[in-house]
Amino acid sequence: MSDIDIIPIDPLDAEVVGAWIAMQNAVIAHDRPGDAPYSPSHQRLRLLLHASAVDVERYAARLDGVLVGSVELVFYLTDNQHLVSVELEVHPDCRRRGVGTRLVEFVEQRAAERGRDTLLAGVAESVEGGPAFDHAGREFAKARGYASVDNEIHRRNDLFAVEDDDLAKLYADAWAKAAGYELIQWVNHAPDDIVEGIAAMRARMYTDPPMGEELDIRPAVYDVARVRDEERVRADRGELQLAAAVRHVESGEVAGLTDILVPPGSETHAGQNDTIVDPSHRGRRLGTILKIANQRLLREYRPKLRYVHTWNAESNAHMIAINEAVGYRRLCRDIDVQKKLTK
Ligand SMILES: CC(C)(COP(=O)(O)OP(=O)(O)OC[C@H]1O[C@@H](n2cnc3c(N)ncnc32)[C@H](O)[C@@H]1OP(=O)(O)O)[C@@H](O)C(=O)NCCC(=O)NCCS
Repeated sequence: MSDIDIIPIDPLDAEVVGAWIAMQNAVIAHDRPGDAPYSPSHQRLRLLLHASAVDVERYAARLDGVLVGSVELVFYLTDNQHLVSVELEVHPDCRRRGVGTRLVEFVEQRAAERGRDTLLAGVAESVEGGPAFDHAGREFAKARGYASVDNEIHRRNDLFAVEDDDLAKLYADAWAKAAGYELIQWVNHAPDDIVEGIAAMRARMYTDPPMGEELDIRPAVYDVARVRDEERVRADRGELQLAAAVRHVESGEVAGLTDILVPPGSETHAGQNDTIVDPSHRGRRLGTILKIANQRLLREYRPKLRYVHTWNAESNAHMIAINEAVGYRRLCRDIDVQKKLTK
């Protein structure tokens, strides 16, 4: 009978941390074809630094003394205090031996100890035209009583395949519909005169995008201090944030926001973060302007970086149309799986 034990990941234990990152990258290579590998430097910095609106715990599972799995738990502190966001991984060579089950039992116990009753995780599924995915995560979640509560399509933009002339035309056409707005772009630190509007946009990300009915994500508390704290943590972790906002000139209101994050140590992949246009300013092509302007800023900063990843609810037709127009193509379906703990 194999022996499974669970230990907290000590950021200063170089051997454990090295084995953890190697295990995670074996999982990416097996389970997420086309996705970005974990950057070792980023993972090491993530162990040390996180935003003050969350608390993060990480544990490794060892099978007969060898690190074969891990779990990351994110506890929200200022809102969504019912929730734990979970990332769970087991090395592809060590599956169906009960490691995932042990980790999930541990997670549920830990959530209950901290007074949380909702666990949320993600699993991937193939889509037509995309690479073939192993559906172990989906089957495991089902077997452990996690319900599918939302679907997002993960798209990837190959920037080397984007036609700059097509983009330039799209951009010019969009501006023709957006008179009265101005574009503001920055790296890492939002200008002081719009940061309050940026906080309001971040809060909207928790309420505006279409969401599955059962998905229990609640409104967030966002203020300038939270935006500044997140900026500080990103900069300390070596992440490059490229951002764009549009402002309504007459009222001075921030009408929309988008940002891309490039992890330290990654020369190939970046991730799209939030994109949002305020409801009172929609229908004026501001989303298209934001996405193209920010994509261009990325090309300027990292001309050799190739892929940007993004996630949209399948029902989010407007955002998807913009993303397809600027070059994003379907990679897989990411399913949100959720479990409510009963007392
Ligand atoms: C999901 C994952 C963590 C499971 O780890 P594991 O150690 O293999 O899990 P267990 O051995 O405890 O499996 C428990 C049960 O889940 C189900 N299951 C797991 N993998 C499965 C698969 N490939 N096909 C069908 N059922 C599966 C089975 O019911 C299994 O019990 P059984 O082996 O007695 O039939 C692992 O496959 C993984 O890391 N996948 C990629 C990352 C991921 O999707 N994480 C999100 C999980 S919510």
